[in-house]
Amino acid sequence: MPTVSSSAASSVPQPPTSEPITAPSFAVIPGAQVRQVLRGREPEMVELVENTYRLHSAGDSVNPQSYFLRFPDRPTSRIIALPASIGGDVNVAGVKWISSFPGNVAAGIPRASAVLILNDHDTGYPFACLESSIISATRTAAFATLAADRLSRDRDRPVRVGFIGVGLIARYIHAFLTGTGWSFEEIGVCDTSPDSIVGFQRYLERSGTEGTVSVHTDAESLIRSSDLLVFATVAGRPHISDPSWFTHNPLVLHVSLRDLAPEIVLASTNIVDDVEHCLKADTSPHLAEQLTGDRDFLDGTLHDVMAGKVRPRPDLPVVFSPFGLGVLDLAVGQYVYDTLVRSGELDVVDDFFHELRRYG
Ligand SMILES: NC(=O)c1ccc[n+]([C@@H]2O[C@H](COP(=O)([O-])OP(=O)(O)OC[C@H]3O[C@@H](n4cnc5c(N)ncnc54)[C@H](O)[C@@H]3O)[C@@H](O)[C@H]2O)c1
Repeated sequence: MPTVSSSAASSVPQPPTSEPITAPSFAVIPGAQVRQVLRGREPEMVELVENTYRLHSAGDSVNPQSYFLRFPDRPTSRIIALPASIGGDVNVAGVKWISSFPGNVAAGIPRASAVLILNDHDTGYPFACLESSIISATRTAAFATLAADRLSRDRDRPVRVGFIGVGLIARYIHAFLTGTGWSFEEIGVCDTSPDSIVGFQRYLERSGTEGTVSVHTDAESLIRSSDLLVFATVAGRPHISDPSWFTHNPLVLHVSLRDLAPEIVLASTNIVDDVEHCLKADTSPHLAEQLTGDRDFLDGTLHDVMAGKVRPRPDLPVVFSPFGLGVLDLAVGQYVYDTLVRSGELDVVDDFFHELRRYG
């Protein structure tokens, strides 16, 4: 971490070490700065996510289970804590604290809101608080894009994409796909909310998207006519249950995790980001495990595919179910922080850590 020491911290006697340890400064990074740093960096973010999966797979990370805070009086809402630590060049710890309140959308604000706290590797001190709904959407779209590329290498590259659930995450995934060279002859959309469909269509128009855009009132026709499917709904339990809709063997990015009945999972090649994370919280793979009593239906992780250990068969649907790892948020958050340090635009909160002498 490029440390910016506070004046108070630098005058404090520190334990003898080869490098003098000081309490870091504390920066607050608003969404506008996060957006400015990440805008137009789609290929770089996909590469960053790819490298982070490699570090995670090599064991150079700590990524415990996420903690779900739920509310008896608001059963569809939740706040999730994703603590993590990552080594390599990133070398940082932290936690993403992300709320999902689907009711927000009716009020005109996004479902998800989040902050990311970054903690210094040496002292444990938190040194930055970043607006993190953009970071979270960015890393999600980046790993979806990475998966679309890696999982389609042994099949024809998809040209007909279908989005089921067209909110903010669908928008980011579309932007990342097109920002990394994908183009589509057809873009199909399906959503239970007419407002979401209108909003997504306007986004597609604004972004100058090529290809035919078609609205589907039923998921079946969209699934049957797409060779790449993106699920980004807020469904809490499966609403797609007929495996015969998938007999054309599409590539499915199952980002919202709970749309597919276990029968569809069991009839597909299944790739996850992390087995232990994904087989939790009633995701579709978790339901498949509960139904069969084993994990034999899992074919591997995205890293296994990247490393050439698993090659998804082209004659089966392939379903990618990513739980979303906190290490990815850390990597993107540290990238934003480092970029702002280099450009001199980091806003430090003076004297954030104030009680720095143990005995006053
Ligand atoms: N796996 C991950 O790491 C990860 C990361 C970020 C978001 N997500 C998930 O992505 C999903 C989408 O997030 P968002 O921020 O875009 O939400 P959003 O509320 O902006 O959009 C969700 C859309 O899905 C639609 N929808 C709900 N049920 C549907 C159904 N049965 N069929 C079709 N459409 C339906 C809603 O009308 C809405 O337009 C959420 O479930 C979120 O948890 C996953």
